[in-house]
Formats: sequence, structure tokens, C-alpha cells
Amino acid sequence: VRKAAKKQAAGARAPARAAVLGAGIMGGGIAFSSALAGIPVRMKDIRADQLDLGMTEAAKQLGRRVQAGRLSQARADAVLAAITPQLDDAGLDAADLVVEAIVERLAVKQQVLAALEPQLRPDALIATNTSSLRLADIARPLARPQNLVGMHFFNPVPAMPLVEVVRGPQTSDAAVAAAVAYALAMKKTPIVVADGPGFLVNRVLTAYFNAFNELVAEGVDFTAIDRAMEAFGWPMGPAWLNDVVGMDTGAHVGDVITAGHPKRMRAIDANPVHRMVRAGRLGQKSGAGFYRYERDAVGKPR
Ligand code: NAI
Repeated sequence: VRKAAKKQAAGARAPARAAVLGAGIMGGGIAFSSALAGIPVRMKDIRADQLDLGMTEAAKQLGRRVQAGRLSQARADAVLAAITPQLDDAGLDAADLVVEAIVERLAVKQQVLAALEPQLRPDALIATNTSSLRLADIARPLARPQNLVGMHFFNPVPAMPLVEVVRGPQTSDAAVAAAVAYALAMKKTPIVVADGPGFLVNRVLTAYFNAFNELVAEGVDFTAIDRAMEAFGWPMGPAWLNDVVGMDTGAHVGDVITAGHPKRMRAIDANPVHRMVRAGRLGQKSGAGFYRYERDAVGKPR
């Protein structure tokens, strides 16, 4: 796949300077992966606590690599220094590519990107990390829709090799090539996919999550489903995966993809993930979802 990707990069260069909007679960990981690849990155959020979280996570990742002897302390310091956390728009006008990793709401993404675009160089690219929305819709308020491309990373970003590079109906070949080159520079495995609700991986995953939600709504114990799917060979069962993804994000993504493929997927009555969102149990990030988590706990929830 990487060989095919090198062809798709068509000699394009990875950005020399990047920026990420959002320092949450995904934005923090993308900024870290960019800095680790030697590409300096500005990381903007509207919340200082989220910026702190993003920097703390990056420092933790680097600490682990130093401890394992995979990185020198000097290199780790340089990687951390290559991430500039900020609440304002400083330096965005110098970015070659800005990755958007904010909340999964079409209207919010449209509004934020329309406000961002005039601050960027005319040739700068915007890569959205949306997991379910169509690029055609996100691009609607943009003056330069040819510069919008999808870069759908997976969670946790530093560990997951796959990146879906999404070609929207107006995305230019140059934008696709640059996104592929950026993913390759981060040592990821990019695949170019067409625009459509859920692209490839999440479309497959939504059918799986829908079956899981249906079983739980019918009264099957979610821990039994997790144990079964883990014994089947998945690294984590669907309840645990929901907790890691974030219940609000997962619920919204599931709704958008289910509605986008009405002939193949149907909405689940008494959807347990919706109930969890209403109860504020957003998964690992809020301390409880299907399982409960100690603060900052990572790894298996039992
Ligand atoms: P999150 O809730 O952890 O982080 C979102 C961040 O965006 C928050 O820190 C928030 O303060 C910030 N934000 C909101 N408005 C902003 C603005 N105007 N400017 C800058 N920052 C702003 O969400 P998460 O999970 O990182 O998701 C972000 C995007 O990534 C969504 O589109 C989601 O669908 C997608 N995604 C999520 C995955 C997951 O497993 N959680 C996997 C792949 C994609």
C-alpha cells in the first residue's frame, strides 16, 4: 500500500510548516506525529486546558520513547519544542497545510474553516479529519474548495498507521498528492478514498457498532460482547472501543453514516450509546463510559 501511495504522492512534498486546529484526542496526536516527523506545527485550540492536555500527551509519548532507548533526550526536547500551542491565530498565515480536528458538527466546521481561509496563503491546503461528514458539504462556504482534502487519522494517532486521504468532488490532484506526502512523512500508510458518508473504514465499523448496539439494547451484557470479540482477535471489543473513541463523537458519526446509507443500515431503537451521551458518560475522556476510568488511566479498563 505504501508503494502505491508513493506513486500517488507524485513527487509532492510534505508541508514544511503545518498547523492543527483542535488539541483534543485527535488534534494532539496529529500535532505530535507531525513534530516527530520533523515538521514544525502550530496547535490551536479555544481552550487552554485542552492545549495543556495535548502538550502533556506529547511529552508522555516522548518520555516512553526515551525510556525505551528509541529517542535521545535532546531529540525528544526538539520534538516537543516543534509544537507551538496557542489560543490565537499567530503564524497560521505561514502554514502550508492546516489540519482541522475540531468537533464533528458540520455547521461548526463550515464556520471555523470559512473564518480560517482568508488568513491562509492562497495555495495553503486545509485537511479535515472528519470521520463521517462529506467534504462536498464542508467545502460549501469555502472560496477555494480545491484546497480542501480529507486526512482521516485513526485513534490513537501515534500508534495507528492508516490515514484515509479523502478526495472531495472539487479537491485538486495537488492537494491529494500533498496529503499523501504528509502522511508518508509521518511514516503512516495513506489510502486515497472517495467522498461519501464514513469513507471506507468507518462505514465498515458502523455496521459492526450497529450490531453491537442492537445486542446491548436487547439485553446482552456488553462485557460478554467485548470478551467474545477480543477472543475472536480484535485488540479491543466494541464497548471499550466506544470508550476510547469518545461516546459523543462515536454517536454522531454513527448517526451520520447510518443516515447516509439508509438501504444498508438502520437506526437502533433505545441506542445504548445515545443513552450514555445523554448521561454525560463520554468514555475514557470523561472518566466513565461503558467502563469507569481512573483519571489519566490508559490501557485495559478491567
Ligand atoms: P475532542 O473533543 O477530543 O477535541 C476537539 C477539540 O477541538 C477540543 O479540544 C475543542 O476545544 C477544540 N475546538 C473546538 N472548536 C475549536 C475551534 N474553533 N478552534 C480550535 N479548536 C477548537 O474531539 P476528537 O475526538 O479529537 O475529534 C476531533 C475530530 O476528529 C472530529 O471531526 C472527529 O470526528 C474526528 N475523529 C475522531 C476520532 C476519535 O476516535 N475520537 C477518530 C478519527 C477522527
